[in-house]
This record gives sequence, C-alpha cells and structure tokens, in this order.
Amino acid sequence: MANFRISVINGDGIGPEVAVEGLKVLHTLGAKCGHTFSTKDYLAGGAALDATGVPLPDDTVKGVKDSDALLFGAIGGPKWENLPHHLKPEAGLLKLRKELDAWANLRPAVVFDELADASSLKPEVLKGTDIMVLRELTGGIYFGLPRGIDGSGPNRRGFNTEVYHEYEIERIVRMAFQIALGRRKKVCSVDKANVLESSQVWREVAIRVGKEFPQVALSHMYVDNAAMQLVRDPKQFDVIVTGNIFGDILSDEASQLTGSIGMLASASVGGPVGFFEPIHGSAPDIAGQQKANPLAMIGTLSLLLRYGLKLDQEAALIDRAIRKVLQDGLRTGDIKQPGLPILTTTQMGDAVVERLKAL
Ligand code: IPM
Ligand code: MG
Repeated sequence: MANFRISVINGDGIGPEVAVEGLKVLHTLGAKCGHTFSTKDYLAGGAALDATGVPLPDDTVKGVKDSDALLFGAIGGPKWENLPHHLKPEAGLLKLRKELDAWANLRPAVVFDELADASSLKPEVLKGTDIMVLRELTGGIYFGLPRGIDGSGPNRRGFNTEVYHEYEIERIVRMAFQIALGRRKKVCSVDKANVLESSQVWREVAIRVGKEFPQVALSHMYVDNAAMQLVRDPKQFDVIVTGNIFGDILSDEASQLTGSIGMLASASVGGPVGFFEPIHGSAPDIAGQQKANPLAMIGTLSLLLRYGLKLDQEAALIDRAIRKVLQDGLRTGDIKQPGLPILTTTQMGDAVVERLKAL
C-alpha cells in the first residue's frame, strides 16, 4: 500500500481520449489494491504550443522530474506541422526524452491469439509471436551533431550525424540481455555494420557485453534483413536490441504483426523517472470521434506499473483484464472482426474496468 505521484500529459489528437480511459483503469486498480495514485496534468506538444508558445514548457519538465512516473498520451497534428523544426511538437517529445535521460525504449509486440486474424499477415505465421523491441532512445542520428541545413541553390543540403558512443551501446545492450534472461534467452542485435562505422562499434560492444551473459544466445542481423525476417518469420525473435532510428522503423513494423498499432504500449526508462506512452501517436484523422482503441494506453499503464513503480502483480492484473475483453469478443474499429461488436473508446475502457474489478 503506497502513494504514487503520476504525471499525466494528455497531449494532442486522440491523446486525451485514451488517457481518460487509462486513468479510469489506474484508479480502479488503486481501489482494488489499496494504492493511491495522485495524478497531475502537464502540457506538451501542440496543446503546449497553443497555450504557452513552446512545445515543452519548463514547468512540465520540472513537474515530471518531481513525480514517480509519466503517463503520456500523444502529441502532434496538422495544425503544427509547418512550424520551424525547434517548435514542432515532436521536438518537445525528443527534448523530454533527453531531459528524463530515458535512453531505453521498450516496445513489446505480442500477438494475442484472439487477434491473429486481425493482422494483414497469415495467422499461422503470427500465432505465438512475442517480441520485445528494445530501442536506444537518446542517441544516434536523432541527436547526433553536426546537423542542419546550409548552402544554396543546387548545393543546398540537409545533414544529420549517426553517432554512437560505447557507453550508450553498452548500457542498452546490457539491458537487452537482462530482459532476455526473464524471457526466452535470445537477443538479436540489429545494425548495419556492413556499411556504417557506428554500427561496427555497436556490434563489437554487443559481442563484448554478450560474454557476460553466457546463458543468452546472441545473434546479429543487418537492419534490412531484420525488416524482412520480421514479416517472414516473426517467431524467431525474442529480444531485438537496436539503435534509435532502426528501432523507430522496426517497432512500427512489429506493431503490424499484432493486428493494430492501437494495441502497442511502450516504456522509456533509464533515467530517474520513467516515461510511458502508447506508440500509436496522435491519429488526428480519428481524434474526438470515440474511435480510438484505448488498449495501447491501458497496456502502457501495465508497463508503468511494472517498470516504473515495480508493481509486477498489479501490472499482471491489467494484462489479464485486457486479455479478458479480447476473449470476450470486444473490439474497437482498428481490430474489428466479422460478427464481433465494435465499441467506442469509452465503452472499451469501461469494459476493461469491469473485468479488472471482477478479477
Ligand atoms: C515514435 C515516434 C517519434 C520518434 C516521433 C513522433 C518523433 O515516431 O515514438 O516512434 O520518431 O521517435
Ligand atoms: Mg515511430
């Protein structure tokens, strides 16, 4: 029994709609398990731009750092797309990752048997897939210097730098091995070592750290092959560890194995305060219409409990409640299946709350 302080950033698009459902589930869990979760709202992204002129106000950073964990909705939308780079909502998100030193991004992609038919891939290829994509989040080409745009005429150019230091690689790869120890004991390190020096160093460090974990099988894959193998035979993977941009791309691909990006949660950890967000983004095309699937957000809550607050049993309860709504044939539009009812965002949240109470 304890009191936890949770920062909440609703953000833009479907962020607020799904965050409401997540919080409903969180408070139900609190009542059930005797914990109190005090929540406090902060601004980021487009909502912050409109209210304060910047995508990440200082008091958001300060408040979040002073809490036990951050539950994040989604940010961005067409309204803010044409702003200069440093004012874009996405710049706020990247700054927040950096401020929180959230260098490890966990993106589990689990195919529920009930949803194996909801994917565009064959169910027999998908059934049993359970992958943890571990993405380095505060380095690589997203942050490397120099970066910019200069020159003029045909010589005008845009440039970025892919750079990895050994310490950045070492800590994320070590985390991959530690996670694998609690799973099927396989780590696949994804790089482009046949072309990039940064990847060559990545691979050398992965091999060196791997020696500390003789129980775990380490393999290496070039990113282009990994993209192909993920759709060819996803069950071959247990933990995938990779750099920032490769992880960005492969985690979207992995999400499609599960049927819908509306099912996928993520945890960004490493610093003092963990940062937990669904990976679907703000989906402006369906915002405010009660069409969004709140299960990614509710799954995110489970990661917050497990990795942010070390409440493993409570996290398992949330996972069971999610499983139960799927077993009971409840669906949102993104995971619709013939003959099954399509629920609104609120109805799906309520359904999870009901099942959670009954556990
Ligand atoms: C993600 C998103 C972000 C990223 C964008 C919104 C900056 O695609 O979290 O995967 O590229 O990291
Ligand atoms: Mg992405």
